[in-house]
Amino acid sequence: MARTPSPIPDPHDPRAGNPFTPGFGLTPIILAGRDLAIEEFTAALAGNVPEARAILISGQRGAGKTVLLTEFRELALEAGWTDLRLHTSSTSLLDELRGQAIAHLRELDPRAETSRLTSASISAVSASRDIRERYRGEGEPLTVLLDRLAQLTDEDGGGLLITLDELQSVDRDQLHALTQHVQDLIGSGHAVAFLAAGVRTGVDALLDHERTTFLRRAHRIEVGSVDVGTAAEAIRMTIADTPKSITPEAAVLAGEISCGYPYLIQLIGSKAWQNSGDADVIEIEDVAGARETVIAAMLKNVHGPALRGLSPRKREYLHAMLEDEGPSNVGDIARRMGIDPRNQSTYRERLIDDDLIRPAGRGFVEFALPYLAEALRHEAREGVGADVEPDKGLRRSHRARKAR
Ligand SMILES: Nc1ncnc2c1ncn2[C@@H]1O[C@H](COP(=O)(O)OP(=O)(O)OP(=O)(O)O)[C@@H](O)[C@H]1O
Ligand SMILES: [Mg+2]
Repeated sequence: MARTPSPIPDPHDPRAGNPFTPGFGLTPIILAGRDLAIEEFTAALAGNVPEARAILISGQRGAGKTVLLTEFRELALEAGWTDLRLHTSSTSLLDELRGQAIAHLRELDPRAETSRLTSASISAVSASRDIRERYRGEGEPLTVLLDRLAQLTDEDGGGLLITLDELQSVDRDQLHALTQHVQDLIGSGHAVAFLAAGVRTGVDALLDHERTTFLRRAHRIEVGSVDVGTAAEAIRMTIADTPKSITPEAAVLAGEISCGYPYLIQLIGSKAWQNSGDADVIEIEDVAGARETVIAAMLKNVHGPALRGLSPRKREYLHAMLEDEGPSNVGDIARRMGIDPRNQSTYRERLIDDDLIRPAGRGFVEFALPYLAEALRHEAREGVGADVEPDKGLRRSHRARKAR
């Protein structure tokens, strides 16, 4: 059969938009460095090892946790699973769970149909309202509702997926109650998967508490930077799907500037794309010219929040590291801070826990995030918490416009 050739896209077509996704929670076109995790999850969905289906994704801000969680959810939906998506911002996780379970039961439960038929004998109008407004089992305990839903999804050949993002801000008691339900369902032999994601430091603090055993035993996926070559290839492939292209040197430089950090991959790609304007090819200058803006955005969106609540001593420690080009010797840091080398290790440990520095061989530490040194220098110049690019713009608000 003859195939219709796909139309040749016009690079000057304004609809050919920027393909990069430099925003939190936005799934990129090309996922860099997640093949193993995705293969494992696919196997866990298809297999019957319940432990493999309790997964905890952790990592730094902008490392790609939400994106991986979303990808897992889509894989589960494609495999015919049903998802219950919970938010730590909701007042009650269990109420949210109940609400979502009922919404699915309304669609899946044949008994919902019975309720429609019973009321239909009274009046067709009230019947349709009835089915929309209530589910027959609405007053039943949550355990019963979840059990019935899991039963129905099992029979469908799928399973029940429960997800929870931003785990670091969860209320501990509510989390405990939720994981109890998950454990009960697994214990009853249902196909259930539980996926949670959160900032590593917050998640570690949470796991230190008793009653989080379920999560401590979950399969832990630590997401973070990919290697620079993989980042360059992700950028090249993202552009290859569009009417534009990028020179190999420009792609390599973009990969280097990204340091393989997922958020930066999207950011540098996006800015380089913008800089290339109407041109068909993204050149090395387009990438080089984007470097400063990209670093400024990283400072504002990732480092700013991380550095904001830092104690003066910890901050001093980080600043003491700035004198070194590469990793810093902990003895040198103590000397620069004017403290006993033994006291130094307290701050060192805390900063490692904060994910701001990491060990770099015996007696050495280095910054754990790209461009953190730049963020600290910026702070030293402009003051703590200063805006990266102070906005001096003045414009009339909607009030002024209305008053005209
Ligand atoms: N595997 C990946 N490959 C390329 N880009 C990615 C990948 N994962 C995430 N990104 C990009 O990185 C950015 C951050 O992703 P995401 O929102 O998932 O991070 P996060 O870890 O959830 O951050 P936060 O801690 O703020 O919630 C987004 O711009 C996203 O498009
Ligand atoms: Mg997120």
